[in-house]
Amino acid sequence: APKDLLWGKSGVAVDARIQRFLAGEDVLLDRQLLPYDIRASRAHAEGLERVGILSADECADLCRELDQLAAAVKGGEFVLDERFEDGHSAIEAVLIDKLGDTGRKIHTGRSRNDQVLVATRLWLREQMNSLFGLNVELASIALQRAEAEMMLPLPGYTHLQRAMVSSAGMWWAGWAESLIDNAGLAQSTGVWLDANPLGSASGFGVNLPLDRDFTTERLGFQRLQISATYAQISRGKFELQALSALAQSLLDVRRIAWDLSLFLSAEFGFCSLPAQYTTGSSLMPNKRNPDLIELLRASYAVVVGARNEIESLLSLPSGYHRDLQFSKGPLLRAFSHGLDALALLAGPVRDLVWDEARMRAAIDAGMYATDRAMDLAQAGVPFREAYKRAAKIDATAVLPSPEQSLGIRQSLGAAGQPALERLHERLARLQR
Ligand code: ARG
Repeated sequence: APKDLLWGKSGVAVDARIQRFLAGEDVLLDRQLLPYDIRASRAHAEGLERVGILSADECADLCRELDQLAAAVKGGEFVLDERFEDGHSAIEAVLIDKLGDTGRKIHTGRSRNDQVLVATRLWLREQMNSLFGLNVELASIALQRAEAEMMLPLPGYTHLQRAMVSSAGMWWAGWAESLIDNAGLAQSTGVWLDANPLGSASGFGVNLPLDRDFTTERLGFQRLQISATYAQISRGKFELQALSALAQSLLDVRRIAWDLSLFLSAEFGFCSLPAQYTTGSSLMPNKRNPDLIELLRASYAVVVGARNEIESLLSLPSGYHRDLQFSKGPLLRAFSHGLDALALLAGPVRDLVWDEARMRAAIDAGMYATDRAMDLAQAGVPFREAYKRAAKIDATAVLPSPEQSLGIRQSLGAAGQPALERLHERLARLQR
C-alpha cells in the first residue's frame, strides 16, 4: 500500500488491505497516462501563475521539475509503482520532494477528478491519431492490391454459396473503402474528444478565476468543456465513443481474418501465407496453422468486451464516483490490443499469395447466369423471362471467360479503374 496519501489525516487509521483493493491495478495503469498528467500539470501551473497563485519563479521551478520528471519517465529513471496511490499522487509527491512548499501549491484549484479526465482525453487524442494512421496504412495496401488484382478471378459468395464471378481486386476494393471510412471515423471521433476538462476540479469548478481558455490553448485542445458538471459526467461517455470507433475497425479485422481463414483452408485453397504468419502443432507434424489470423479475428471480442464493461459501469447518478476508475483498465487494454491487431494485420495483407489456378477452378458455369440474364435483358427480353432462360444454360454452352464477366462490370465503374481512382482521392483528402 502507498506510504503517503494525499488525503491522509492524522489519527485516521488506514487499512492496507482496503487500500490495496481501492488502488487495484490503477497505479500501474497510470503509467500510461502519467506523461499526459505531467503535461496537464505544467499547463495548470502556468495557469496558476496567470491568476497570481504562483509567482513567476515558483511557476518556473514547477515547470522545470515537471519537465525533468517527464524526461525521467521517458528514460525509465522514474517508474510509477505502488509506493504511490496513483499517478496524480506521484506527481505531487515528486514536486514536494524537490521544491517543498512550492510543490505543495500545485494542487491549488484542481482535483484528481479533472486530472484523470484531462490525461485520458490527451491520451485518447493520440490513440485516435494512431487508429487513423493504421487504417490509412491498411487502406493503402488494399488499394494497391485492388489495382494489381482487379482482373484476378475470385468466386463471389452469398450465403457461402457460389454466386457470381468476382475478383481479388473487388474483394480488396471493398475492404479499402471500409478502412477509409474507419479512418474518417477515427478522425471525427478525435475531433469530438478534443475538449478540455481541466479546471472543472471535482466536478463543480473552484472559486478562483482560473483561465480555462489558456489551458485549453496550452494543451492544444480545440475547445473547452464549458460546464464543470458536464466535464465530469462525460467520463465514461467519451471512452465509450472512442471504443466504438475502435470497434468499427476491429469489425473489419474480424471479417478479413474470417475470409482469410476460409481461403487458407485446403478446401478453398485460394491463398497461402509466408511461414512467419503461421504456427505449428505440438502433435501433428503436418500442420501449419493460421493462429495469428485467428487471434486477429478474436480481437474484436477484447474491444467490445471493454466497451460493455464501461457501459455497465456508467449506471450511476451524476458527479464523480470511484466506480469510474474501473473504466481505465478496459480502455487501456482495448486500445493496446486493438491497435496492435490492426498493425499486425498489415503483414499478412501485404504478403498473402493467391493461387490463381484454384481460384479459377472454383468458378463454375452457374456463376455466369446473372450475366447471361442481363445480356438478354439488354437485348430487349423482359427481365423475368431472361431470368428463366438464363437459369437453363446447358452444360455444353460456350461460357464467357471470368475476365469478360468482370470486364463489363468494371467498365461500368462498379469497382474498376474509375472506382479505384475515386477511392484514392478519398484517401488523399482524408490525409490533407
Ligand atoms: N484513480 C482515480 C480515478 O481513476 C482518480 C480520481 C480519484 N478521485 C477521488 N475523488 N477519489 O477515478
